[in-house]
Amino acid sequence: MPDPIYLDHHSTTPVDPRVLDAMLPYFREHYGNPANRSHAFGRTAAAAVEEARERVAQALGARYSEIVFTSGATESNALAIKGIAQARPGAHLVTTAIEHRSVLDTCRRLEAQGWRLTVLPVDRHGRVEPDDVRRALRSDTALVSVMAANNEIGTLQPIAEIGAAVRETGALFHVDATQALGRMPLDVDAASIDLLALSAHKFYGPKGVGALYLRRRPRRAEPLPLVEGGGQENGLRSGTLNVPGIVGLGVACELAVQSMDEECARLRALRERLFERLTGALDGLALNGHPTLRLAGNLHVGIDGVEPEPLLLGLDGVAVSAGAACSSGSVKPSHVLEAIGAAGAATRVALRFGIGRFNTADEIDRAAQRVIGRVQMLRGTG
Ligand SMILES: Cc1ncc(COP(=O)(O)O)c(C=O)c1O
Repeated sequence: MPDPIYLDHHSTTPVDPRVLDAMLPYFREHYGNPANRSHAFGRTAAAAVEEARERVAQALGARYSEIVFTSGATESNALAIKGIAQARPGAHLVTTAIEHRSVLDTCRRLEAQGWRLTVLPVDRHGRVEPDDVRRALRSDTALVSVMAANNEIGTLQPIAEIGAAVRETGALFHVDATQALGRMPLDVDAASIDLLALSAHKFYGPKGVGALYLRRRPRRAEPLPLVEGGGQENGLRSGTLNVPGIVGLGVACELAVQSMDEECARLRALRERLFERLTGALDGLALNGHPTLRLAGNLHVGIDGVEPEPLLLGLDGVAVSAGAACSSGSVKPSHVLEAIGAAGAATRVALRFGIGRFNTADEIDRAAQRVIGRVQMLRGTG
């Protein structure tokens, strides 16, 4: 078996060694519970949590008191959407057809329970039209939820324009920024964002920890808690804090923002290299997502004339994701591909490459070679 090559960074990222180094003391020596400040163990842990809170806030242009730690973006999205909706029974919610399931399924459940829901379409590149958002807003709209960057096709949304439209109304603006931190500038004030969800493992931090930004001024985003008990995080998210994870999240945020410009330029060059290699050797290849307004490390391509399963099984250790999920022998295109009209035929596979911080040009060349070889073999042209 040849060396594995990891090109699935939208799914998760490896922990950066600098993040791990910062976390380790909070497993070994500083294991106190930050809720117990009557002794030095607790106080040391509490100080580390507050330092991390400051780091997360700085990465978003937010204030320190506006950050709530959670178990990841799924929980942050749930707290944002359910928490705000529950404070306004039966109100109207707006989201888009290409959100992550943690947003879409949460909105759908609320709809089934009596809230009103508008799901906005996207164009063929996966972009939401700000005028569509404007038209959807009503006097009873409580929340608009639009992701900053899509986890499949990488398309970036015009968040600031949408935020400005929402700000003119009484609704709050929630952004799922899980794929966006460290990959596009995020400033909650500049983009009129009221709530924002993050997950550390998407930007070289640990799994199982995330954050929700909640605006305090000029208006206040005040969700009802989903988890109650010890009253941690101002009563918004009870439960003993994951101190090592939170420390890791803070450092990962800082590194992501510091390295963003240089890293995005490098990833964009690697992505272009990969696309050139693939298109140079294979015909019947189509780019999904926006040609330029996309995540630097994202390449999503439809490949004609091959079935997903045999392709994926024969990639010789190249870790990528298929945009079509094969379940019990049938191929089901993702809701994102359906929304952009790229669902395609059973003999078309959609591959998502997610290039990351530690990938090299040599890995890109070897991955391209293995994909090309496999496609040519399956097409009988190799
Ligand atoms: C856009 C987006 N939102 C939310 C999530 C959920 O993140 P987590 O699984 O860390 O809770 C993901 C993870 O794939 C994602 O890509």
